[in-house]
Amino acid sequence: MNPALDIVIFGGFGDLALRKLLPALYRLEVAGKLPEGSRLLLASSHAGVEGKDVNAVKQWLHKQLDSNESADSHWQVFSQRLCPVTVDVQCKDEHWQHLADLLNAQPQHSRIFFLAMPPSLFHDTCVNLAALQLITPTARVVLEKPLGHDRASALDINQVVASFFPEKQIFRIDHYLGKETVQNLIALRFANELFEPLWNGQHIDHIQISISEQVGLEGRKVFYDQTGAMRDMVQNHLLQLLCLVAMEPPHKLQAEMIRTEKLKVLQALRPVTGHDIPRHIVRGQYARGVMEGKEVPSYIEDLGHDSDTETFVAIKAHIDNWRWSGVPFYLRTGKRMRQRCAEIVIQFKALTHNVFDNAVGTLQPNRLVIRLQPDEGIQLVMMAKKMNQVEMQLQQVALNLNFHDTFANFSSDAYQRLLLNVIKDDLSLFAHVDESLLAWSWVDPIMASWRRNEPPMHTYEAGTWGPDAAAALLHKDSRAWHNNGFNSNIRNLKTAGGG
Ligand code: BG6
Repeated sequence: MNPALDIVIFGGFGDLALRKLLPALYRLEVAGKLPEGSRLLLASSHAGVEGKDVNAVKQWLHKQLDSNESADSHWQVFSQRLCPVTVDVQCKDEHWQHLADLLNAQPQHSRIFFLAMPPSLFHDTCVNLAALQLITPTARVVLEKPLGHDRASALDINQVVASFFPEKQIFRIDHYLGKETVQNLIALRFANELFEPLWNGQHIDHIQISISEQVGLEGRKVFYDQTGAMRDMVQNHLLQLLCLVAMEPPHKLQAEMIRTEKLKVLQALRPVTGHDIPRHIVRGQYARGVMEGKEVPSYIEDLGHDSDTETFVAIKAHIDNWRWSGVPFYLRTGKRMRQRCAEIVIQFKALTHNVFDNAVGTLQPNRLVIRLQPDEGIQLVMMAKKMNQVEMQLQQVALNLNFHDTFANFSSDAYQRLLLNVIKDDLSLFAHVDESLLAWSWVDPIMASWRRNEPPMHTYEAGTWGPDAAAALLHKDSRAWHNNGFNSNIRNLKTAGGG
């Protein structure tokens, strides 16, 4: 068990705390992973009043936990740890001294400061923490996106925090890195002999990384309209996935070594500039459409005013290094798409020589689909003989690994894993400042071009797989998106008997 600590959540009753952090901490409690004696201090300018008290936390737990989890089972112990603390981070007043007294009463506890608030408040918060000498050598600070809207603003925000905390004490959350299936990508690549020798441009034709969502604005109109899909999803989640798929094997699975390998991928990511922007990037915004039988409004109607914010992005990217030379990476994300589905598709090359007669059917190249959510699993698509048939006939079949079938009670809470890593002081699931800045450097020129309306915005009907131009991006390379590739109609080897 790790030594006791104090976790101070600034924005302790905000959306992030109530929807993500507190349920994750409660799950850690249930799993017996919260160090004994640890305290959870919920700092907010109105902490303690109705709706910002311990009861409110319980109500949120009831709402947020899954139906097979009980908000009551460990509430007694959990609630003892909770301590709402009134602090207005922008004022230097006696409330700060009260927080300091609470923390100083347990000087042996390590401190974790979770800044669950807009970056504009980071400076005042850090100044107050430093003035009261609360930043100890073992203190950690946890930051959540959005950390800036371009490289310059991201640099400013990071520099503010860096003037109070050294890099090894800064945990930048990208919740995709906490997903169990994303972790499994590392296991798949580095714990199996099978894939690594094939994991390069000699054998792989191209790679697709898609995160499609059905949700629209979800009550985040102002935030989303200022952000858009590129900043909200590509700069962080999609590029982090790209790094994990493409990086070289680290010497050891240790934070510094993983981060070094991810950085090399970002350094090798070919900038998309000039004429390549319209050729390699598609942006779109959803129009009215039908989703699961119901009409849904357009983005503009959802928003209530005109906007040129993109809700969809598709990108053809290249990594200029030995391993990936000539292999396109197609990235895609969008809101109000036909299905919720996050997948990585590794499309292998066609066989170099065909020993079969044409009569046996067409040989299809192998495909590995890593399904991140929902229906988490892995599918390997290959050719096999049609059984119960005298003559040789080939067909595509799928080897399926469905984590829900294989692991009883499989459920994944990214924040639970991430918070546990903060508690363990393990940075391996968190982005280094250089990764974040390199990602911004790659995204910035594309967004600058969009501001000049080059290329113009496409629209797509809600409930579809995005604009036609996104399909054309692959068609012109004689390829196609594997929309929901995992659930395709390929015969499943586990369940299909034969012919
Ligand atoms: C967040 C974005 O980072 O990720 C949201 O801000 C998006 O817009 C969410 O909906 C998607 O996360 P998940 O885990 O639901 O795929």
